[in-house]
Amino acid sequence: MTLGHDKLSFLNTPTRLDRMNRISDDLGINLFLKRDDLTNFGTGGNKLRKLEYLAKDAMDKGATMLLTVGGPQTNHGRLTGAVAAKYGLKAAIVAVGAYPGELSANLLLDGIMGCPVYLAAEDGVHTEDELLHKAVRQVTEEWEAKGEKIYYIPMGGSNELGILGYYDCAVELAEQTAQMGLTDVRVITTVGSMGTYMGLQVGTKNEKLPLHITGIGIEPFEGGIVNKAEKYFEKVKEFYGLSLDIPARDFDLIEDYHFGAYNNPVKEVREAMYYMGRKEAIILDPCYTGKTFTGIVDMAKTGKIKPGENVIMIHTGGIPGIYTKHHRIEMEKELESYIHII
Ligand SMILES: Cc1ncc(COP(=O)(O)O)c(C=O)c1O
Repeated sequence: MTLGHDKLSFLNTPTRLDRMNRISDDLGINLFLKRDDLTNFGTGGNKLRKLEYLAKDAMDKGATMLLTVGGPQTNHGRLTGAVAAKYGLKAAIVAVGAYPGELSANLLLDGIMGCPVYLAAEDGVHTEDELLHKAVRQVTEEWEAKGEKIYYIPMGGSNELGILGYYDCAVELAEQTAQMGLTDVRVITTVGSMGTYMGLQVGTKNEKLPLHITGIGIEPFEGGIVNKAEKYFEKVKEFYGLSLDIPARDFDLIEDYHFGAYNNPVKEVREAMYYMGRKEAIILDPCYTGKTFTGIVDMAKTGKIKPGENVIMIHTGGIPGIYTKHHRIEMEKELESYIHII
């Protein structure tokens, strides 16, 4: 029970907290990975912690089907489909975007787990939000007509309830770091729809945990990332009736590593992924964790992360992203020389 809410508790927590020895030596920092990519359904990822709460709420409300939205290759959609499969619910994903012409990455996994994906094509007239809204209404009506009771989960599971998964993770991290004797710990996470960061931040502040939370944005945010955080926090505060204030200066959010767009192929990001793969045998993804790790490497090299600083990067998953066509094509060009026909 966290802030008065129950969850399903299906996760293999605590997830591992592993020191990256070779990269720590190389960068002169003390780097750990929180292995939330190794969570146990649907190939894992951060959204499962949120879904423990969201799916519980859905089931308590008598829902028979989870409906969510995202990009066509949404990790959150894939994991919503995974939890639905595990609990005998139906699920569907609604996205705006074109079919890439091949059933790969998350689209493939969605199908394997029996979760349909509805792709609404851009029309050059309506905004993405308008198209998404219309498509959600259409798909909802279609399934309600078949007798399903729909529970709608917003983008990334990032609403007030969704933050609780990472509120719990902050508590878990404080316990793990205390057991390991680590002090002055900075936790760094990716920021997309922001539920992960907000959960860690609110958990840390509300429970007075000895952690510092840094978020790295992976896309430009209209009005700025701190502004988005302040608005989100106000909603959370009101929802739970928290007597907690977080001033803007306490939102340590970095906008230097989004590389201009969401899910764009970026050479520096791929290089950071190769660096992690070749030093630690850990796979990052090009959309989220690759950008975050690019930021960590740069911050260590430029002294924004201090020599010897204890840094925990949350590995939020997203590995299927390496198999999306537009990323894979770029990697194929760079890695083809690793193939030798003899
Ligand atoms: C792999 C991965 N990492 C990080 C994030 C960002 O998490 P949040 O949306 O809670 O900011 C996402 C969101 O989709 C994700 O799929």
